[in-house]
Amino acid sequence: LVLTLVMILIAYLLGSIPSGLWIGLYFYHKDLRRYGSGNIGTTNTFRILGNKAGTIVFIMDVLKGSLATCLPYLFHSPINPLFIGFFAAVGHVFSIFDHFKGGKAVATSSGVLLAYNPLLFLVGVVIFAITLLLTSMVSVGSLVVVLSITIIALIQHDWILSLLGIVITIGVYYLHRSNIQRIIHGQESMVSFGLGQYL
Ligand code: G3P
Repeated sequence: LVLTLVMILIAYLLGSIPSGLWIGLYFYHKDLRRYGSGNIGTTNTFRILGNKAGTIVFIMDVLKGSLATCLPYLFHSPINPLFIGFFAAVGHVFSIFDHFKGGKAVATSSGVLLAYNPLLFLVGVVIFAITLLLTSMVSVGSLVVVLSITIIALIQHDWILSLLGIVITIGVYYLHRSNIQRIIHGQESMVSFGLGQYL
C-alpha cells in the first residue's frame, strides 16, 4: 500500500508540471493563462508561442503521462499501470504548481495510453488527425478521440481502460465546456489547415 501511495504521489507530481505555463513564463515572458483560450496545454502553446514551444510542450505533457504509467514496471508493482497513469492526468488538471488549476488532460491522457497500448495510441492519432483535417478545430479532435478510444476499449472488453476512458471522457468534456459553447455558436478558433473554413 505504501508503494502504491508513493507511485500515486510521483504520478501526481509529474502530471502537475505545468510545462506550457513555465515555458511561456521563462522563455517567452508570456503567461498563457492570459492569451488565446487561456489554457496552458499544447494547443494554446502552439497558438500563442509557436511551433517550437508547442512541440516541446506536447512532448513533455505526453511524457508525463507515459512515465507515470511506467512507474509500476519500474517499482515491480503488480498494480494496473492505468491506475497510476490516471494520477498524472489528475495532476495536469489540478496542478500543485498552479493553484490546483491546469490543462484539459488530453495530451497527458494520450501519454498514458501510449505507454499502456501503443497500437491503440496510434489509432487515436489517426482518429484525431482525420477529425482535425475535417473540422480544423483541435477541440473537436480532442472530444472525438477520447470518446472513440473509450468505445473501442468497451468493444475490446478492456474493462480497466473502459472505466478510465469513461472517467476521462466525462472530465475532458467538462473541461471543454467553453470550447463546446464556442463550437455550437460557430466561434471556436480554427487552425489554418483542414476543411473547417468550408463548414
Ligand atoms: O486539448 C485542448 C484542446 O482540445 C483545446 O485547446 O486551447 O483550444 O482550449 P484550446
